[in-house]
Amino acid sequence: MGKLLRLPGLIDIHVHLRDPGQTHKEDFLTGTSAALAGGVTTVFDMPNNKEPIFSYGRLKEKIEIAKRKAVCDWGLYFGTDGQNIKEFEKVVDKVVGLKVYLNLTTGKILIENEKLVEKVFKYWPKNKIIVVHAEGEKIDLAIGLCKKYNNKIHITHISNRQDLDKILEAKLKKIPVTCDVTINHLFLDKHDADFYKDLLVMKPSLQNEDEVDYLWENLPRIDCIATDHAPHLASEKRSFDPPTGVTGVETMLPLLLTAVKQKRLTIKEIVRLTNTDPQIIFGYKQDKNTYVELDPEEEYKIDNKRLFTKCGWSPYHGWKVYGKVKKVILRGEKVFEEGKVLIKPGFGLNICYNKV
Ligand code: NCD
Ligand code: ZN
Ligand code: ZN
Repeated sequence: MGKLLRLPGLIDIHVHLRDPGQTHKEDFLTGTSAALAGGVTTVFDMPNNKEPIFSYGRLKEKIEIAKRKAVCDWGLYFGTDGQNIKEFEKVVDKVVGLKVYLNLTTGKILIENEKLVEKVFKYWPKNKIIVVHAEGEKIDLAIGLCKKYNNKIHITHISNRQDLDKILEAKLKKIPVTCDVTINHLFLDKHDADFYKDLLVMKPSLQNEDEVDYLWENLPRIDCIATDHAPHLASEKRSFDPPTGVTGVETMLPLLLTAVKQKRLTIKEIVRLTNTDPQIIFGYKQDKNTYVELDPEEEYKIDNKRLFTKCGWSPYHGWKVYGKVKKVILRGEKVFEEGKVLIKPGFGLNICYNKV
């Protein structure tokens, strides 16, 4: 065994744990176990559940479920269809942010009517971030509204040059917009999508190599890396109407460490993109005694059979990677070691620390 490397627990600001509603794909226990296995100690869960999280009641229900089952720390996003403005004040201190969908994706909760989108930006409290699924011209809409109403926004899963350039331009103008790229858009491209077909359909779709290279070149200007852990059963992906999205929370760190080995990235950058910048953007302070120990020299193969995710497959199955997670410490407690979760469901805490 080589010298162990210690990293602060990763913060994944974009996951879908499907609980409640689609717990045949994932739930708060399996999803947060997968997170620990991947060195992720905090996840922010999206609101596109089967019954979307559009009301205080649904949010309370989800908080209760997460409280009982989570083994890593967690935060939730609130969702909106533009008709639930009166819920905003009730939920704002219980969530990490508001999620707004401006393009079609799993759950079909996009807001098409621009007047409604505008209402959302106008009334969402300014002290909390809005995370936006926006592609192409919808990015202009989001940035324009952010300017008009002084929101703080974060555009998630940027996948190509054109979209990234819009954000970089806005940043130069000091508009408070940040962004992330996902592991999938850094490590997979259109060739993989063409080869694996339905299995790799995701939103935004995988891009050609030039676009992927552009994301790598511009990583210093990007704020976070997220997984967009979006589990669906392999059988669902192979069906007539395949849902979009793939898993990722337990393969992010080894893929990034493999990129370090290939000199495409530094450990310092990994820490910024998966820990320090997420804390700054979301106003979250991670406990100092929360860290991951791993062997950066240990090479192993990602194997579907060893995954914790309930849906049981990864687009990286068979990939040779470096950096095996040995141990995870969460708030001073050993929670994961040598492939095993050591604490009981419910150990994970809501980072918003709010009573409902
Ligand atoms: C996500 C999902 O399955 O919930 N799918 C995806 O293709 N990325 C939704 C999303 O993040 O857009
Ligand atoms: Zn999305
Ligand atoms: Zn997503």
